[in-house]
Amino acid sequence: MHNETDTTIHRQDYQPYPFRIPTVRLSFELNADQTWVSCTLEVQRRVDELGETAATADLVLDGEELSLISIHVNGLVQTSKNYVLTDRTLTLLNLPDEAEVTIVSTCRPIKNTTLSGLYVSGESMFTQCEAQGFRRICWFADRPDVMSEYWVTLRGDRKLYPNMLSNGNLIHQQDLSEGLHESQWHDPFAKPCYLFALVAGNFACREHMTKTASGRDALLQIYSDQGTINQTAWAMESLERSLRWDEDRFGLELDLDRFMIVAARDFNMGAMENKGLNIFNAAYVLADPNTATDANYQAIEAVIGHEYFHNWTGNRVTCRDWFQLSLKEGLTVFRDQEFTADMMAHGLPANEAASARANKRIDDVIALRNAQFPEDSGPMAHPIRPESYQEIGNFYTATVYEKGAEVIRMMHTLLGEKGFRAGMDEYFRRHDGQAVTCDDFVSAMQWAYERQHPGNPEINLEVFKRWYSQAGTPRVHVMMDYNANTRQCHLTMTQRCAPVGVEKQTNLQKLPFHIPVLIGLLDANGKNMPLKHNGQTVGTVMLELLQESQSWTFDDIESAPTPSLLRDFSAPVIIEYDYTDAQLALLLAHDRNAFARWEAGQELASRQIIRLAKAWRETGRCSSIDAVFIQAWKSILQDASLDAGYRARALALPSDKTLEARMSPMDPLAIAHARQAMRIQLGQACAHELLAAYKDNVTPGAYSPAPGPSGKRALKNLALAYLLAAQKQDALLLTLMQFNHATNMTDRMAALAGLAQQSDSEDASEAVVGFFEQWQHEPLVIDKWFAAQATSVLTTVERVRGLMAHPAFTLRNPNRARALIFQFCINNPTGFHAEDGSGYIFWADQVLALDEINPEIAARLARAMDQWSRMIPTASKLMQSQLQRVASHQGISRNTLEIVSKALSL
Ligand code: TRP
Ligand code: ZN
Repeated sequence: MHNETDTTIHRQDYQPYPFRIPTVRLSFELNADQTWVSCTLEVQRRVDELGETAATADLVLDGEELSLISIHVNGLVQTSKNYVLTDRTLTLLNLPDEAEVTIVSTCRPIKNTTLSGLYVSGESMFTQCEAQGFRRICWFADRPDVMSEYWVTLRGDRKLYPNMLSNGNLIHQQDLSEGLHESQWHDPFAKPCYLFALVAGNFACREHMTKTASGRDALLQIYSDQGTINQTAWAMESLERSLRWDEDRFGLELDLDRFMIVAARDFNMGAMENKGLNIFNAAYVLADPNTATDANYQAIEAVIGHEYFHNWTGNRVTCRDWFQLSLKEGLTVFRDQEFTADMMAHGLPANEAASARANKRIDDVIALRNAQFPEDSGPMAHPIRPESYQEIGNFYTATVYEKGAEVIRMMHTLLGEKGFRAGMDEYFRRHDGQAVTCDDFVSAMQWAYERQHPGNPEINLEVFKRWYSQAGTPRVHVMMDYNANTRQCHLTMTQRCAPVGVEKQTNLQKLPFHIPVLIGLLDANGKNMPLKHNGQTVGTVMLELLQESQSWTFDDIESAPTPSLLRDFSAPVIIEYDYTDAQLALLLAHDRNAFARWEAGQELASRQIIRLAKAWRETGRCSSIDAVFIQAWKSILQDASLDAGYRARALALPSDKTLEARMSPMDPLAIAHARQAMRIQLGQACAHELLAAYKDNVTPGAYSPAPGPSGKRALKNLALAYLLAAQKQDALLLTLMQFNHATNMTDRMAALAGLAQQSDSEDASEAVVGFFEQWQHEPLVIDKWFAAQATSVLTTVERVRGLMAHPAFTLRNPNRARALIFQFCINNPTGFHAEDGSGYIFWADQVLALDEINPEIAARLARAMDQWSRMIPTASKLMQSQLQRVASHQGISRNTLEIVSKALSL
């Protein structure tokens, strides 16, 4: 069916593995240069439900970068007659129906720069097995539907590796001769190999005893480098809160006596949910007020929650194959989003709680629009359950994670909290201990949905399921008319979603989506109008759009309304409605739905920026913003009835990515200039009010990362940034003061970011240099230092190359590479899109350099060019030629090749 050289894997080609491997016994001689691994598998030829034995007796195992020492089957040594060894597989021929297979091999942790498999970071050893890293440790059936019980023995140097950890329970530990020691671990829960982990090193450990809801004792531990134990308190508090939250909201308890988290300095992603032994990027564990910002604190809580919640959604119930990745990721992101929202709303009265939850919703929607919407319209577009991939590492995407979470959220909206919980309970009742598919999840929800609507077969999730198979962001066009005589309001919604990405090549006939749209109507004074719907009178109704076009009529509407559409962002779609600026201003001033209110402000601001950007491109100068907009902006700034965090979000300008998406062709340079002009003009027009906001929102006293004070800091620092842009009110002095006297990293960083943009202030450049001196021993702070410069409007390619030559820079550490290179290529439009094309050449140079070290990271950087074909022609040509340069490079990794070839095949 598919051609020979094509390495594409298709979802439809899934076959069960022909063997079961109920137990795995692993033994490690840990050594950074060369680690010896003995792996004993209990292997049984599979018998299916119909009693049929699997057709093949050959056991095909995956393995990469391993050296084979020996193979035994049932105690008998195997010779090359009994097996076939290739680059990527080891096939044991003609096994008996039941066999004990022992394979001894070695791997080279110190040589492993990919950070997948067993690798060295600092003086310690870590593993990363998801998605396909276990095959870099030993030969195995490296796929998530092969689940086994693991017994692990670790042997290593007592001094180098006083801590030797693996999944589950520690069953034995002893000293051996020659300075070695050994520890034995047993994980009682069957798991796929991607959840295996081991860690060896010399760590500090924070411990906390807790009790689960049913009264069992559990030991929580957080391991990190010696000298950093003071930075793990927040992570431990977050972990404890995660345990409690999953018990309260989902009735899910920790199932182990011991739960460990280890911080690693070198890590490809955020963190990893290995059973009982989560391994984290240090950036999502370590925090104290002096080194971490409010955003860091929030991210740590979210990621700790995310990995912990995987224990049920991912580990107890796992994925049948990697096409089902969103089964665990979309669901777990939804759960961590709700966790954060509940934490933000904790202890507040109802109306404030709603606005606190809206803040979290706004943050998540911003993230979705910045990363997922562009993805869904570009060369890598794919449904949340992809149909094919070349390299699974490339499919840990915003679509699988964030849009996946939106799809789960829509089910939550359709079923309500209670119905959704019933569906979750049913999901665990059916599938605990299994490797399942997205369909299995939806059918558990479907069961709960049907129970809510007995005797109404029309209500089901059949249409809804299309969210799993169709890509793209649907556009929902809304038309409304009001008849003053009948006092009826008539609403029509029409959806469309053009083929995107691979859909264009497959001629896929796309069908309508099931879209829940929450709406309200406002009268001319901004009051929410009562709506009669399904026999009830409510302020917000959920309209379910299931067909291409549908209409609704509301009776007894007093006067011509302004619609408030897609409240709470109830679906991942783009709403098209022809609002006047005055209607948007009304929504911004009055909509009682805090999300929709924010949205109206963003729409107003977008219109201004796009207008200025076009003027800049045509005349070389940005025009001025409308007085009406300035007035609306100023009133939000001054509205003390709104919490500071919400005001900071409402006053922030829409991101480059959202603005670019509204332009055809895209013109990032024009948008960057327009944004700067907006800040200057708003800063000048509202200088007085901004200074007042600055002063009103200082947070004296001990630091707290709670939403209250962090919201104040966000508003205060936003005010400072506008004042600085406008050079108003001695803003530079104020920034320097804040920099020198800050008592927390949030304020210090905000000041540093501003100072890094000053071209002719010696004080400012001294501050930037001084910052490095002061924090050089804190890697996470130095990442921030690189990032602040990487994103400065002053920073050109030349400057970035200069920073790369700094002794503190290295491409080998992903956090460092992200801080400088990714930040420049993704978040510095003036530098990256410089008209001479130097940014694109730089991009290709770095993709190629990274590709030699760490293909997963290189492939992520490669995606910075996703939108090349939609850019203005001058940019697009230059981008294309650099993409071609990377694509034709000899020896490029499969990871990077998949990205650049998809980009070019557009
Ligand atoms: N499962 C991890 C999470 O979402 C993701 C992850 C961590 C990962 N490390 C990885 C995925 C390396 C691919 C490769 O929490
Ligand atoms: Zn995850």
